[in-house]
This record gives sequence, C-alpha cells and structure tokens, in this order.
Amino acid sequence: MCNSKLITLILLSMVLVAVTHSATRAAADNSQPPPIVLQSQKIELPRGNLKFEGSEPGARSASTYCVMCHSRGMIDSQPPLSRDAWKTEIHKMRTAYGCPVSEGLDEELVDFLYQYNHKAAPSASKQ
Ligand code: HEC
Repeated sequence: MCNSKLITLILLSMVLVAVTHSATRAAADNSQPPPIVLQSQKIELPRGNLKFEGSEPGARSASTYCVMCHSRGMIDSQPPLSRDAWKTEIHKMRTAYGCPVSEGLDEELVDFLYQYNHKAAPSASKQ
C-alpha cells in the first residue's frame, strides 16, 4: 500500500470514529432525565424553644432576653465561663448584635448565667 492510500485510510477511520462518537452523544442528550417524585417527610427538629427554668429574676431575664435570637443551646453549649466572661458576653450581645437588655440587668444576669453554666457544663472541665 502506498503512503497516500495509507494516509487516506487513516483519515477516513478518524472521520468514522468522530461521526460515531457524536451520534452516540446526540442519542444520550435526547434521553429524558429521571422523573422527580415528591414525597412527604416527617422530620423531627431539635427543640429550639427551651427557656430557663426558675422564677428568680435572673432566670426570667435570661428567658426574656437571651433566647430572642438564638436558642438556649447557645448558652448550654458553653464551657464553664467566669463571671467576667459572662459579663463580656452580655455586653457583646448588646453592642454587637443589638440585644435590648438594659445594663441595669447585667448583675442579675451574670449571677444567673454563671450559676446555670457551672451546673449545666460538664464537670470534667470545671475550674
Ligand atoms: C439580638 C440578638 C441576640 C440576643 C438578644 C442575644 N444574642 Fe447571643 N448571639 C447572637 C448572635 C448573632 C450570636 C452569634 C451566633 C453565631 O456565631 O452563630 C450569638 C452568640 C451567643 C453565644 C456564643 C458565643 C459568642 O459570643 O458567639 C452566647 C454564649 C450567647 N450568644 C449568649 C447570649 C446571652 C447570655 C444573651 C442574653 C443576655 C444573648 N446571647 C442574647 C445574637 C443574640
């Protein structure tokens, strides 16, 4: 076989492969996506509306002001914090996020949150 015939044969094979390939892709593109089937699901969400138990003023203030934007879980999940840290936290909630609690309630809130946090927090990390 001379060189030009060989080259023609190779070129023809390449064209054949390209045509077959694009035909296969076109067939795949026409296929329908699987139908979407909607079904009702029952999902149990974690409770996010817990308040602080107790009737002392600190508990009532915390239930009023500290679960407005997030759940009690945000406080439950803290490690044991010092009184100063709680004071800083309340200040941060007021200044950074707009918590409407007045500064006059800081002391009772710090007392309550400190007691609550040290009762609820894991004892292994108590200081
Ligand atoms: C105006 C909304 C708002 C109020 C009211 C509020 N918080 Fe927050 N709090 C936030 C936001 C926003 C975050 C940050 C959430 C995050 O990072 O995912 C946060 C986070 C926290 C955290 C996690 C630590 C941190 O600093 O990010 C603690 C603890 C906390 N708040 C305690 C309190 C306490 C105690 C009160 C009541 C005095 C309070 N929050 C009231 C908005 C609020």
